[in-house]
Amino acid sequence: MTCGFSVSQGAGCDCGRSGRAAPEAAKMGSEGIGKNSTLICVPLMADSVDQMLVDMNKAKSRGADLVEVRLDSLKRFNPSQDVETLVKRCRLPTLFTYRPNWEGGLYDGDENSRLDVLRLAMELGADYIDVELQVIHEFNSFIMQGKKPAKCKLIVSSHNYQNTPSVEDLGKLVARIQAAGADIVKIATTALDIADVARVFQITVHSQVPIIAMVMGERGLMSRILCPKFGGYLTFGSLESGTVSAPGQPTIEDLVNLYNFRQIGPDTKVFGIIGKPVSHSKAPMLYNEAFKQVGFNGVYLHLLVDDVANFLQTYSSTDFAGFSCTIPHKEAALKCCDEVDPIAKSIGAVNCIIRNSSDGKLFACNTDYVGAITAIEDALRGSHHVNGSTVSPLAGKLFVVIGAGGAGKALAYGAKEKGARVVIANCTYDRAKELADTVGGDALSLADLNSFHPENGMILANTTSIRMQPKVDETPVSKEALRSYSLVFDAVYIPQNY
Ligand SMILES: NC(=O)c1ccc[n+]([C@@H]2O[C@H](COP(=O)([O-])OP(=O)(O)OC[C@H]3O[C@@H](n4cnc5c(N)ncnc54)[C@H](OP(=O)(O)O)[C@@H]3O)[C@@H](O)[C@H]2O)c1
Repeated sequence: MTCGFSVSQGAGCDCGRSGRAAPEAAKMGSEGIGKNSTLICVPLMADSVDQMLVDMNKAKSRGADLVEVRLDSLKRFNPSQDVETLVKRCRLPTLFTYRPNWEGGLYDGDENSRLDVLRLAMELGADYIDVELQVIHEFNSFIMQGKKPAKCKLIVSSHNYQNTPSVEDLGKLVARIQAAGADIVKIATTALDIADVARVFQITVHSQVPIIAMVMGERGLMSRILCPKFGGYLTFGSLESGTVSAPGQPTIEDLVNLYNFRQIGPDTKVFGIIGKPVSHSKAPMLYNEAFKQVGFNGVYLHLLVDDVANFLQTYSSTDFAGFSCTIPHKEAALKCCDEVDPIAKSIGAVNCIIRNSSDGKLFACNTDYVGAITAIEDALRGSHHVNGSTVSPLAGKLFVVIGAGGAGKALAYGAKEKGARVVIANCTYDRAKELADTVGGDALSLADLNSFHPENGMILANTTSIRMQPKVDETPVSKEALRSYSLVFDAVYIPQNY
């Protein structure tokens, strides 16, 4: 399935959705005036009412539009007193959720008491309450006995912790939730692959009712950041990293400051770094800040991708405008592009993919080797650098590359181009040999590298995944052997795409 959304299908479409976002709530809470009306909701997971009151203020100061009071996280809870305190003392609009065990929450008590607490929250002035689809009929009969205040919006939610169903099944689910009397539909599914998110975007774009649609897990991160592009009602942002109410939630700080969430709209171009693992990459910090500085309408994301071909096929619209590519996809990505720069072809790996904005075709190139080799040359020249010198300080040097993957190929190619004598050492010797034969160098097994010391002044470039999280203290060669080198370069520590 492809995600060929065009701009006119995006959040800006005139699809007649009443209250696609909540202007009244945004007015009450939002500090940041942005391009979109999608709200940021901070879930409060404290175990005491006092701490929740403190966290409410923190959420407001960090730019939240509303808070979700997760009553099921409270250890001591006196409903008649505490709900009133939480409603009355909150300076932001409130969403009350009392999630039971059977829907992934912490409450394991009596169902009638739980629904009674939600009704109480509604009557005491909550702006939203969340009721699970499974019990909405019971809850509706509760309401029939009393009155539903017009101010309070009913979110009817469904959580799927196993997978993300087909578009057809998701459509039926949304229709059921809508028919149950929801003011706002909430669906949360689980991403087994990043391509799953496309189905949820499709549902969001076409929803006739306000919708909160999230895909949980790191592979679903995109759903949480791009929801303003597709017209989502709100997204969740945690107060602190690690204190999340669902897997894959970013912090409110990252939403607002790193991803410029307030500025994301239907015509925002999407970029990102494709990798696995990828969360360590600093590339989003670099690009999003650059976009902000020059006023470019784009957002750059971490994209945890398992199958690069499937990813590129799924997100094929011109709105998905370009990607950086890292471990382990640099070689596979080359085969997925319509046109590849000749140097990248010789290297056999790409790290930069650009989509043509008119025909959607993908062009790929390799900037790794320029960035890495320039950094090494600069370091070798140091303070003795004489402007205008055309001879590379790498010329004639013995240049040892550890690793024969995408980055290894780029470094080996670049060093050879600069006149260095290249030696490749790799865990899998055959790959080292293949690369050495391609660039015109020698191959070594990783085991032989420790005793390899034919001369002084050698240069070492580590392009293996060793030293990436969590192996930050490991080295691919012994510390003793490192002394033989005049310069050691580590690809792990340079931001992706240099
Ligand atoms: N800063 C940047 O812009 C930049 C750019 C490119 C890459 N990098 C970094 O460079 C590293 C490699 O990326 P890549 O795209 O080249 O990945 P890749 O294509 O998957 O290659 C990984 C390399 O690491 C080796 N390796 C994996 N586990 C190992 C272990 N336990 N011991 C020894 N060697 C091991 C592999 O050896 P086998 O062939 O034997 O499997 C292979 O040579 C990553 O840390 C990446 O973040 C940074």
